[in-house]
Amino acid sequence: MPHQPLPTIDPKKLPKHVGVIMDGNGRWAKARGLPRTAGHEAGEDALVDTVDGALEIGLKYLTVYAFSTENWRRPPDEVRFLMNYNRELLTRRRDEFNEKGVRIRFIGRRNDRKLPRSVVRMAEEAEDLTVKNKKLNLTIALNYGGWAEVVDAVKQLPPKGKIDEKAIRSRLYAPELPDPDLIVRTSGEKRISNFLLWQGAYAELLFTDVLWPDFRRDDLFAAIAEYQRRSRRFGAVD
Ligand code: IPE
Ligand code: IPE
Ligand code: MG
Repeated sequence: MPHQPLPTIDPKKLPKHVGVIMDGNGRWAKARGLPRTAGHEAGEDALVDTVDGALEIGLKYLTVYAFSTENWRRPPDEVRFLMNYNRELLTRRRDEFNEKGVRIRFIGRRNDRKLPRSVVRMAEEAEDLTVKNKKLNLTIALNYGGWAEVVDAVKQLPPKGKIDEKAIRSRLYAPELPDPDLIVRTSGEKRISNFLLWQGAYAELLFTDVLWPDFRRDDLFAAIAEYQRRSRRFGAVD
């Protein structure tokens, strides 16, 4: 039987863009006596179900944080695992995402010598394959950091050009994406960890104790229902 969205979601007040900080894989694995990498592997089902849930309710933009510019500080084995894992997940899933009408994009520092070329190649193949899709924009933040993004944008400013918010914004990694309305972080940590710093300035933040491998579309729907109860003012008054 097809899964029904929670009735509490108002389809007319859907956020346009939801960001997800997929955290807690290591703790999920540890609780089971498994290596941390088993937690990353278990995150694949969470991602696929979240994407399916987004498609189900007609969400237009979903951005997931897969690897931060600070995650290079992890042990080399885990970094290597994560790079292979991300490349292989994409290899396994890109046709399925493509058939579902998902457009895949990557944000992050691509021309970084630390980032394996095979990962960049696979990312760009997935982008090219899905470029015409319109149902859902799935953006994967890989080797992404908000500081790096703003630095990279500022470096591209023409030396004598006007410097204003528009000049910086238009040079971010994917300026065509709307700002996230809602950022969800799993695993009980209450911080942003350098995710969408510029774009998330007015995002509603939602923290859930669910560990990422246990996250499913119902958790996304519950987050959106909570978002719909919030009052957004953008500095103005109601
Ligand atoms: C999130 O899970 C995945 C990445 C950051 C790549 P973690 O690996 O951070 O899991 P915890 O936070 O240690 O439980
Ligand atoms: C944030 O999680 C990065 C990703 C989910 C990819 P971390 O686990 O790296 O964040 P911190 O170190 O706890 O802030
Ligand atoms: Mg973590």
